[in-house]
Amino acid sequence: MNDKHHEFEKYDFFRSDRFVNDPYSYFDYLRQQSPVLREAHQGIVMVTGYDEALEIYNDPERFSSCMSTTGPFGGCPIPLEGRGNEDISALIEAYRDKTPFSDQLPTMDPPEHTKHRALLMALITPKRLKENEEFMWDLAEKQIDSFIARGECELMGDYAQPFAVLVISDLLGVPPEDRIQFRKHLIRQEQEQGGTGVGDVKKGEVHHSPLAWLYDTFSAYIEDRRRNPKGDILSGLAAATFPDRSVPEPLDVARIAANLFAAGQETTVRLLSYAFQVIGERPDLQQRLRADRSLIPNFVEECLRIEGPVKGDFRLAKKPTKVGGVDIPAGTFLYVANSAANRDSRKFENPGEFQMDRENARLHVAFGRGRHTCPGAPLARAEAVVSVNRMFDRTRDIRISEKVHGPPGARRYGYLPTFILRGLTHLVLEFDPVPEGSQ
Ligand code: HEM
Repeated sequence: MNDKHHEFEKYDFFRSDRFVNDPYSYFDYLRQQSPVLREAHQGIVMVTGYDEALEIYNDPERFSSCMSTTGPFGGCPIPLEGRGNEDISALIEAYRDKTPFSDQLPTMDPPEHTKHRALLMALITPKRLKENEEFMWDLAEKQIDSFIARGECELMGDYAQPFAVLVISDLLGVPPEDRIQFRKHLIRQEQEQGGTGVGDVKKGEVHHSPLAWLYDTFSAYIEDRRRNPKGDILSGLAAATFPDRSVPEPLDVARIAANLFAAGQETTVRLLSYAFQVIGERPDLQQRLRADRSLIPNFVEECLRIEGPVKGDFRLAKKPTKVGGVDIPAGTFLYVANSAANRDSRKFENPGEFQMDRENARLHVAFGRGRHTCPGAPLARAEAVVSVNRMFDRTRDIRISEKVHGPPGARRYGYLPTFILRGLTHLVLEFDPVPEGSQ
């Protein structure tokens, strides 16, 4: 083991900034020892292997999602001490209401999760997704109009953030006259907090949810449409029922809508920024993509694999068990590192290399797996494919701004200082606009 590796041991992945710029060397270091390994600072079991990650995601009987976005760092109200040999399922249920974000879909377990997830899936029908994708093509065009003449843009603020908010607004059928409000409320919050919107975890602090505005707004929509159905998307939402046909409270529906904004914004923004970072950094790939647009979907999959926006999520062991031959006492927090599983060489050859034609790129776990697997995956994929296509339509050559990020070989990029999200803080691009009329 070399000196660099010994040095890794000194730093707490969850509390220090040491691994913000490069979490991958640390994950590789852990995986080399064991794909399932308890780290010394917090006692959290780090899961860096692909098969092991899948085993955990696919087994909610053994692993609970309560506290999936905060781990122990949002405060753990459940008295876990000394329970390593017990089945703590009932204990988790007894304290569930006191755990952070317990009303949010990502932290629910079956059977509650199954019920609320069904409500959400009733919204994301193939028909709705298709209409939403059609909307994206126009929206991308309009968003690009707002900066194209400048020959440069800050991708997050000028494009990705407004784009991501407006796409979800369209998906949920927010009336066009209200969308400016959504943009104002949601983007302002995001910039103030630099976070996920759900309640971001920054070095262990939890900023409480900025979702109140969304809850109020959607509860009001649902109440209104229940009184006066208008045949629009919100009326469909208002009429949706749980699988047992019981009628959800307006707040239950509002939570689902808010979850979509919270989980679908920051993540998509980071995917878009990484895709354009690669396009700017790799003129060879940019040329190939421009020449053959059918390569774009797999390019997006490889972006998700090698630099997924969600570094990892937590699970809590409900009973004493084993994963990858390692004993896991009940009450153990596990950090399932998607970004590490996606670079496991047992699954992906030369995992640190960006291979646009990688055949199994789509098998990445950037969207998780199992019951909580990202329901927004088709949307996020479409947002990236549409954005890359439209930017190619409107520009001749996309470059990284040397003024802001420095010259090739000495670039300066900033990354979000959270242990959940991976992504750039900003990205300035320069380009030659295609003259109007010659597209
Ligand atoms: C590149 C973009 C995205 C990435 C990398 C991503 C990643 C993920 C991951 C890893 C999970 C699973 C968490 C877990 O198992 O604990 C998840 C869940 C979720 N995502 Fe996404 N997501 C993205 C975009 C979106 C979009 C666009 C939406 C909505 C429009 C969305 C909505 C959700 C929701 C509601 C959940 C919770 C599902 C559940 O708990 O059943 N995501 N996402």
